[in-house]
Amino acid sequence: MGNPFTVSLVSWHDGEPLLRAIREAVFIREQGVPEELEWDEFDEVCRHALALSLSGEAIGCGRILPNGHIGRIAVMQPWRNQKVGTALMEALLDEARSRKYQQVDVDAQVQAVPFYLNFGFAVVGEQFMDAGMPHIKMTLELKQR
Ligand SMILES: CC(C)(COP(=O)(O)OP(=O)(O)OC[C@H]1O[C@@H](n2cnc3c(N)ncnc32)[C@H](O)[C@@H]1OP(=O)(O)O)[C@@H](O)C(=O)NCCC(=O)NCCS
Repeated sequence: MGNPFTVSLVSWHDGEPLLRAIREAVFIREQGVPEELEWDEFDEVCRHALALSLSGEAIGCGRILPNGHIGRIAVMQPWRNQKVGTALMEALLDEARSRKYQQVDVDAQVQAVPFYLNFGFAVVGEQFMDAGMPHIKMTLELKQR
């Protein structure tokens, strides 16, 4: 059976209202990230991954910067642990490979480190605080398929 959702890559221009709704629910309301930290100038230059349920609900997102930094991975609470996050990461990693990036990195919330370990990311450096939560940098060397 196929997934009960789809993932596509979109520009900020095309996806903004749906991407905003997910990040408001997950980062701002659930995790308490201040609005002024959530929104930045990089959204405009990122490629965004957007997951939609089969009924068209926005259920997850993530983004990749032109320098290979992946971030803002979020899945709406009722949809967690159903591989939506995995599908978002795979779409962003495919995009990175198609751009011939040799490495990507994330600033992982420490609670989410096991999620990134699944893709082969390795922890580098020391923990640091961002938006009031402990984070750690993780990198992944990409092999071209
Ligand atoms: C982290 C997040 C994106 C994962 O999305 P998801 O759709 O629930 O993840 P998946 O179902 O694809 O999980 C894949 C694997 O990662 C593990 N995993 C997922 N989230 C995890 C977490 N927070 N901590 C530990 N393991 C986690 C799952 O157990 C699963 O492992 P398995 O394959 O051995 O069963 C989601 O929990 C979320 O949006 N959290 C709130 C926002 C957040 O923390 N974002 C990350 C910021 S760095």
